[in-house]
Amino acid sequence: MEQIRTLTPRTAVIWSVLRAELDRRAGERLSVLDVGGGTGGFAVPLAEAGHRVTVVDASPDALAALTRRAAEAGVADRVRATQGDADALTGLVEPATVDLVLCHSVLEVVDDPEPVMSALVTALRPDGAASVLVAGRAAAVFGRAMNGQLDAAAALAADPHGTTGGRDTLRRRYDAADASALLTAAGLVVEEIHGVRVLADLLPAAVADGQQAALVELERALAARSPYRDLAAQLHLFARRPA
Ligand SMILES: C[S@@+](CC[C@H](N)C(=O)[O-])C[C@H]1O[C@@H](n2cnc3c(N)ncnc32)[C@H](O)[C@@H]1O
Repeated sequence: MEQIRTLTPRTAVIWSVLRAELDRRAGERLSVLDVGGGTGGFAVPLAEAGHRVTVVDASPDALAALTRRAAEAGVADRVRATQGDADALTGLVEPATVDLVLCHSVLEVVDDPEPVMSALVTALRPDGAASVLVAGRAAAVFGRAMNGQLDAAAALAADPHGTTGGRDTLRRRYDAADASALLTAAGLVVEEIHGVRVLADLLPAAVADGQQAALVELERALAARSPYRDLAAQLHLFARRPA
């Protein structure tokens, strides 16, 4: 399991951070809530590691795939799939019952990220941790520009939410400061911020696929360092509810 995680440039940095938290709580069976957890890319390995995971997701198809994946991995008894909207989490989860909440690639698409974060914090036990992954603003500007979409790059750079407007698939993108401010305002203490996919999306596929182990090591080496971190496709924030 550890090998699969560490070999993936999209997830290696996140798993390193999560692994440290799991090690900190070694021997405990944690209650994990994965909001917008989709098909279980994180939920199933966490269940395999012995933890109880509830996935709340809006998509019945994603939850069906999650259920199949959990069954195939032999952890169906530790994975609960709940259809629900992140914008209406309160009521779906008992307050102060969760040790670790994951909210990966979801804040960019919800109606309003502030009440979502607030609901996540309410779900957490004191000393519980939050793993939040959001789309990076700077990488999106660079990406559009490098594709020749200079108007879109300019619009994205100027837009306060970091989008290109009505046709953008995301409703907002973040830099480290405003993502951090969102979590802090919800009552969390941000402990770490890493860039995820600093280079992975910029490399020709032949390089990314052909030298995956080297790419993982390079992503890890750059993830916490500015300015590399701030140019990453995604920002990963690890934060804690004060005890
Ligand atoms: C980009 S996927 C990310 C999946 C997973 N978190 C990951 O990082 O691999 C976004 C997921 O969020 C779900 N989603 C989108 N909007 C949502 C909402 N308002 N409430 C709950 N889930 C939502 C989608 O169904 C999808 O499974």
